[in-house]
Amino acid sequence: MASIDYSQKIPNNVDLSSDKRLQRALEEWQPNYLEWWNSVGPTDFNANEIYLRTAVSVDSDGWAHFGYVKMPDYRWGIFLEPRNESRTVGFGDHLGEPAWQQVPGEYRNWLRRLIVTQADTEPASVEQQRLLGHTAPSLYDMRNLFQVNVEEGRHLWAMVYLLQSYFGRDGREEADELLQRRSGNPDHPRILGTFNQPCPDWLSFFCFTMFTDRDGKFQLLALAESGFDPLARTCRFMLTEEAHHMFVGQTGVGRVIERTCSVMKEHPGKDPAQFGAFPLELVQRYINFWYSSSTDLYGSEVSSNSANFFAAGLKGRAFEERYDEHKALEGSLKIERFIEGKLAAEEVALRNAMNEVLRGEYLADCQKGIDYWNRITEKHGVEFRLAPHRRFHRKIGDYAAASSTTRATRSARRSGTRRWASGSRPRRTAPSCSR
Ligand SMILES: [Fe+2]
Ligand SMILES: [Fe+2]
Repeated sequence: MASIDYSQKIPNNVDLSSDKRLQRALEEWQPNYLEWWNSVGPTDFNANEIYLRTAVSVDSDGWAHFGYVKMPDYRWGIFLEPRNESRTVGFGDHLGEPAWQQVPGEYRNWLRRLIVTQADTEPASVEQQRLLGHTAPSLYDMRNLFQVNVEEGRHLWAMVYLLQSYFGRDGREEADELLQRRSGNPDHPRILGTFNQPCPDWLSFFCFTMFTDRDGKFQLLALAESGFDPLARTCRFMLTEEAHHMFVGQTGVGRVIERTCSVMKEHPGKDPAQFGAFPLELVQRYINFWYSSSTDLYGSEVSSNSANFFAAGLKGRAFEERYDEHKALEGSLKIERFIEGKLAAEEVALRNAMNEVLRGEYLADCQKGIDYWNRITEKHGVEFRLAPHRRFHRKIGDYAAASSTTRATRSARRSGTRRWASGSRPRRTAPSCSR
């Protein structure tokens, strides 16, 4: 493993200067990246010195440097976890074979598709959040926003390095395309549905970082298991940065709930909106939206693609080492499916259920954050409990055909209360797409 080279145009720990062709390709891409940042990244504030974390190594103790920097001068770099020479493929048909240092020819297209799909989410989120600096609730929040933005930019670099380094001309074309698609653009949208949704306000941003960045965490966990070693090593380091993004979301929504509960205690029986706080029913609706959209990102419950990716050793399960068995040829998963208008449990061969396995891990992780929010309402003696529903408002998979309601919508309908302004919910601009 090369040490971090900060004297280069592109900081890296992959010994970029020894591969002149690759270095040139990335240095040619760099001005296009900056042009993209300046045209659709955060509006304004690019001349301001922002206190930001910058990755400077992959050491678990002390990988980041903190200091004031203008965002366009941020040192977006390429950092991979150190290589373990004895690493083997940890799952699927190639279990136990040496991990691949080059792209296996037979899996080239699948692998490229997996990397491009992940890569596309990174600039998309920056585009979605570009106006939020203007309405930041505080300087603390604004700094967090920009921290998330520059790190999503770095994640794009991480993926573009893989494309340019291992996929030749195709990879270079994909890298260019990543700077050309635009979130929400009907003619040239980002690949996945959630990443084309507007994120126009801070409650959306907090829900996005709570739920959509958490999808990122689980996709990265699954790709960090990949038999293609450079992808695994890249994703492991990206996960280190990702934790803060989810912290921003969970605590951000938590602060909104905290404020609402205080106002409700201060003004019992009154609508908290009258006093500038978000009614909890409205918070629930925001959660419903981002939770369902992010849950869709895992794709159909039963998926031959997910089976292929697993069999090939390209995309595993999150925390693959926690499983006793890594071929998944025998087992099955009981999935509640919605077929011909009815819900029914069905045993699905495990490999075909890999989307659902990953979604299950994701939803369990989301629940921890939701429990944290409900402890806030409980602490204040407020009865309301936030409770998103796995099948509600889904656009992908079996449940897209189902009509589901949440407990909160049912009780609002019964009592006839609609305390949120109509039209206050984010609107869809593009069709949903999943992996
Ligand atoms: Fe990211
Ligand atoms: Fe993130």
